[in-house]
Amino acid sequence: MQDPAGGAAQITAQTVPAVSAAVALTPAVRRSEPYMRLHWTDSQTGAVGYLVVHTLRGGLATGGTRMRAGCTVSEVEDLARGMANKTATFDLPIGGAKGGIDFDPKDPRAVEVLERFCEAMRPWIDAHWVTAEDLGVPQHLIDEVFERLGLGQSYHAAIRRAPDPAATLERVRRGLNAAVEGGFMLGDVIGGYGVAHACLAAAVWWGQVPAETTVAIQGVGTMGGAAAYYLYEAGMKVTTVADAAGTLHCADGLDIPALLALRNAYGEIDRSRLPAGVEQQPRTTILAADVDILVPAAISYAITPDNSFDVRARIVIEAANAATTPEAETMLAARGVPVLPDFVANAGAVAWAWWLLLGQVDDTPENSFDRLRTIMHSKVALLLAAWAEQNVTPRETGHRWADDPPPLTEPVVVP
Ligand SMILES: NC(=O)c1ccc[n+]([C@@H]2O[C@H](COP(=O)([O-])OP(=O)(O)OC[C@H]3O[C@@H](n4cnc5c(N)ncnc54)[C@H](O)[C@@H]3O)[C@@H](O)[C@H]2O)c1
Repeated sequence: MQDPAGGAAQITAQTVPAVSAAVALTPAVRRSEPYMRLHWTDSQTGAVGYLVVHTLRGGLATGGTRMRAGCTVSEVEDLARGMANKTATFDLPIGGAKGGIDFDPKDPRAVEVLERFCEAMRPWIDAHWVTAEDLGVPQHLIDEVFERLGLGQSYHAAIRRAPDPAATLERVRRGLNAAVEGGFMLGDVIGGYGVAHACLAAAVWWGQVPAETTVAIQGVGTMGGAAAYYLYEAGMKVTTVADAAGTLHCADGLDIPALLALRNAYGEIDRSRLPAGVEQQPRTTILAADVDILVPAAISYAITPDNSFDVRARIVIEAANAATTPEAETMLAARGVPVLPDFVANAGAVAWAWWLLLGQVDDTPENSFDRLRTIMHSKVALLLAAWAEQNVTPRETGHRWADDPPPLTEPVVVP
């Protein structure tokens, strides 16, 4: 809670507001029917894939494509609904969609499956669906597939609307590939930068300095890895991270740049070269880490009623989409633990992509970082104020922002 004197306040049971029964019973996710669902079956492997368009605005919908063994249509529906919330919350003039393929991204046939999925979805990706990376599908891979299909890049449906698509493609590529500190590219880290600033904004709001704030992050791929990097750079103590292979812990704070340098293409850290002092733990212990902030940044439905009581953090900040089930979120709220919803915390990735497409940011990383940081801090402060002062969960406040986006008066103009 904000310290009225402006000094550093510790988060205590007293400063976390009690939640009324009315809030605890509020459903955390609103179910509404999507605009459209497409089911696809791969003729060669039998893999199934889905495109769900939750909202179509100005003939466009945006949302990444994920690949994981076990991906279901209902998961893709939840993710598409989340994308619609993100575009509305960040005032983007497009709808929300998502693609998902039930296939192991480590299978040697995975790229061919992705290519056949994109080919099957061609009418949508050609004209209406702007897709991008997601779990199991890095941006460079989906761009390579689009290039092979003669569609240039995964933002094709928007880029083709520009008066000079080749020039727009070039401008977008410059933005995505702009070099940033740490040896990264802007397009790969901007979403995680936004998540890191959601965490920093929570600490600011509590009046807690970064050096005294501890964080655990589940997943160190595109989102979790970048969030960890910028939190480390800001001086927060990232004590615990997990990847698909397990949890890594150091009570004094992990050396995040050193760990990120040990990642493979799937975001897994090489255990044979761990720095001294890093303790290895089972994968599931990440959720029970004794930290101020827990950032799920890997799978959907990571926090469920079965494990929600394991969570010891004072706040959950969702980098992963649909990281907390509605039931688990209600249980956390009843214990005074707010969940900053995915459609705010991780929306920097999609918001920035559209700022880039619409020419509102360029390939100067500072402009992009400044804009996202300012917006994220103000949104998080408002969400936490509503939680503390009105007993309204951050998701409910976010839904109020997302409801009834203003009507589009003109089609999207891509310069
Ligand atoms: N990439 C984006 O631009 C983007 C944008 C917004 C939201 N998201 C969401 O963020 C989440 C992660 O996406 P990403 O692109 O970073 O994925 P990624 O494939 O780059 O990385 C995934 C990470 O999670 C780890 N992981 C996988 N299963 C795990 C498990 N059971 N326990 C612990 N760790 C596990 C992997 O080892 C890896 O470190 C997804 O929910 C995605 O929808 C991604």
